[in-house]
Amino acid sequence: MLAAYAASIDSENPLDGLVVDQRPEPEPPDGWVAVDVRAAALNHHDIWSLRGVGLPAERLPMILGGDAAGVDPDGNEVVVHAVIASAGWTGDETLDPKRTLLSELHQGTLAQRVMVPRGNLVPKPPELSFEQAACLPTAWLTAYRMLFVRGAVTPGQTVLVQGASGGVATALIQLGSAAGIRVWATGRTEEKRQLALSLGADAAFEPGARLPERVDAVMETVGAATWSHSVKALKQDGVIVISGATSGPAPPAELNRIFFLQLRVVGSTMGTRDELERMMRLMVQRDIRPAISQTLPLPEARAGFQAMLEGNTSGKIVFTV
Ligand SMILES: NC(=O)c1ccc[n+]([C@@H]2O[C@H](COP(=O)([O-])OP(=O)(O)OC[C@H]3O[C@@H](n4cnc5c(N)ncnc54)[C@H](OP(=O)(O)O)[C@@H]3O)[C@@H](O)[C@H]2O)c1
Repeated sequence: MLAAYAASIDSENPLDGLVVDQRPEPEPPDGWVAVDVRAAALNHHDIWSLRGVGLPAERLPMILGGDAAGVDPDGNEVVVHAVIASAGWTGDETLDPKRTLLSELHQGTLAQRVMVPRGNLVPKPPELSFEQAACLPTAWLTAYRMLFVRGAVTPGQTVLVQGASGGVATALIQLGSAAGIRVWATGRTEEKRQLALSLGADAAFEPGARLPERVDAVMETVGAATWSHSVKALKQDGVIVISGATSGPAPPAELNRIFFLQLRVVGSTMGTRDELERMMRLMVQRDIRPAISQTLPLPEARAGFQAMLEGNTSGKIVFTV
């Protein structure tokens, strides 16, 4: 079957290890099923994998991708939940110390077929296309948990989203705005700031800009480039929810400000299967559809990876299979 996979690791030039070619068909063990992938979405996680973050060379070749929507062996339209808990784990799977994401230990979704535990199949709402549904399991689920679970943001509060055009950032803007939150975003270009406004942000600023007032919460995935601004943007007792550090993991800690203003720093990773179902229900009820930057056939996957690497995005990058 055709697949986009990591054949080698290169921390400096991640696309050098990317190959789009034939891989063996999955052979699901008991309790697992093979899903016919109709659409799969790209995440920054796939770039990290090609750089060797979370993917050691001894696991190669590894099919990339955590997100897919497709058809299960019984003919049901499904979305694949990307968090694979260890055998016997019960409860919140994001807290399982042995959890993995598809493409870390088990082969990923950027392929004609992917095998997953049967319990990771979630019914796809008929209102969402395969392309739209494929956007949800990583970036959108992460955004949902950041805002509503880990951040516990409520309607009427003001949230700063660092970044405008990425997968998580666009999901944060769209979900936050639909939930009655005042959303402010930063974007690196005027075009990206306009995108944020078009997706429902109430205002968009240049990175590091002085804001009209302090905010209740900051959603942080950028890391070193924006951390100090995030800390300075917060009200007393405000919360930064962090789920990523695209620009680097080691900014100045700003410890003085954090303790003096009694700020809270909360980590967030992916989300649960239940949260994925709830989010999809919200999206159907409130008519929210993910911003899609580009849709490409799987054989042209490299162009999508290149666009993400260059920061040339306006929402999710989707591959049709
Ligand atoms: N913990 C988890 O479970 C989890 C889940 C999903 C994602 N993540 C992490 O979250 C991050 C975002 O993921 P994604 O898939 O949304 O990535 P993406 O689509 O490539 O988006 C990157 C985002 O970073 C912003 N950004 C701002 N300054 C940047 C800089 N100096 N360098 C690079 N990017 C900058 C971009 O803002 P502009 O709009 O201004 O370009 C854009 O919104 C990644 O690091 C990813 O690994 C973690």
